[in-house]
Amino acid sequence: MSSTTRSTPRAPIQLSSKPAGRASPESRTACIRTFGCQMNVHDSDRIRRMIQDAGYAEVQHYEDADLVILNTCYVRENAVDRVKGHLGELNRLRREGRVKKVALTGCIGAAEESATLKQTYNIDLVLGTHNTYELAEFVGLPTMRETYTPELPGTEGGHNAFVTIMTGCNYQCSYCIVPTVRGRMLCRPMGSVIGEVERLVAGGTGYVTLLGQTVDAWRHEGKRFCDLLEAVSESAPRVWFTTSHPSNMEDRTLRAIGERDTIVKRLHLPVQSGSDRMLKVMHRGYKAERYRRKIEVFREAAPDGTLSTDIIVGHPGETEEDHEQTLELVEDCAFDAAYIFKFSPRRGTEAAALPGAVPDAVVQRRFLEVLRQIEQNAFARNQRKVGGVEEIYIRHGSTEDGKAIGETWSGHAVHVKTDVAPGNYVKARIEGAGPHVLYAGEPSG
Ligand code: 5AD
Ligand code: SF4
Repeated sequence: MSSTTRSTPRAPIQLSSKPAGRASPESRTACIRTFGCQMNVHDSDRIRRMIQDAGYAEVQHYEDADLVILNTCYVRENAVDRVKGHLGELNRLRREGRVKKVALTGCIGAAEESATLKQTYNIDLVLGTHNTYELAEFVGLPTMRETYTPELPGTEGGHNAFVTIMTGCNYQCSYCIVPTVRGRMLCRPMGSVIGEVERLVAGGTGYVTLLGQTVDAWRHEGKRFCDLLEAVSESAPRVWFTTSHPSNMEDRTLRAIGERDTIVKRLHLPVQSGSDRMLKVMHRGYKAERYRRKIEVFREAAPDGTLSTDIIVGHPGETEEDHEQTLELVEDCAFDAAYIFKFSPRRGTEAAALPGAVPDAVVQRRFLEVLRQIEQNAFARNQRKVGGVEEIYIRHGSTEDGKAIGETWSGHAVHVKTDVAPGNYVKARIEGAGPHVLYAGEPSG
């Protein structure tokens, strides 16, 4: 059983527009593998642009690649284990002379552990999250320290695009390695964000997602996140943002989600725990009651909207009573989806040194209890959508079984029978619902 339940698409998203498969022997080829969150997906997009500028053709399989770039995640130990598996396989392919160079970028690259990995595996280049521009030199481009900044956009021309509005994080949650590997918060100027959004939309992008570790903490020259969101919602035909922090989430923003036609009515607001005691230990900066109030405002502003969260089970010191309070909060908030994580100690974080480790069997039981509750809620809420006709944005084109994956304005994921290309809208009746997804019939228009 995996330690997460993925009701909303956080899995790596295909952004590639380059040909897949074998490239001709004389050309240089590169393969990028992305692990972790959407920030990494977006960083990979920039890396992709860089290798394309350097004349590499992108390939999808390691065995076809001269250069392999692993853009990594460090947030939980299982993310590191996965990368180690890939590094082992790359060592073998290198011995067979198929892969020539390996670069490791992203959050593991910024952590001390990367030095051990470099010794154990055959890695040519290790980069953190702030010096990705050094990859430019490595692939034979002029040094891009000036031009390759966090403001450099990703690949343009896609039907949906990510726009980074801030990097890093100023919180110090007990369990979290992000502030160590991504640094302190840096907000991008409003004009630069809007400029990029306008360019993207002029180039055909129909869906813009604003990205950051705590997007709602964005502020710049007297402007706050809601100002930016409202401005973007006037420039782009469809907008979403992730991920938010409850302490920064303003009622004004929640109401804007409900009021603005171009904003997808989907809120991802990580709560982590329903126990005030644990929230304090975690340094989250809010109490469960305040979180509940935010959710009330959201539900009132967007009654049909979807709400998702992150929950950690088994943080050191978590008692049965704390866990019960999390279950109560889950019940009260009736989440439409959740990512549930088993606590994973990260070296260098406060929680890794705390006493009161929760035994594995207890963590597993708590995990399943939260999961069951989330799925019951989500299933009941999804059932209520059956029978309605929805306008659906097609995110991924149809597969062999003729079903495309789309998203309603309420933020529900829908399987729909259509061969319409990604980026278009269809209207279809919802015929069925599971805990994670709705099922629509043939589109009517
Ligand atoms: N252990 C388990 N889950 C974690 N997260 C962050 N750090 C850890 C950790 N050490 C989870 C939090 C966060 C999400 C991105 O990952 O729930 O919101
Ligand atoms: Fe990590 Fe907390 Fe910052 Fe989120 S707000 S990135 S959990 S430190």
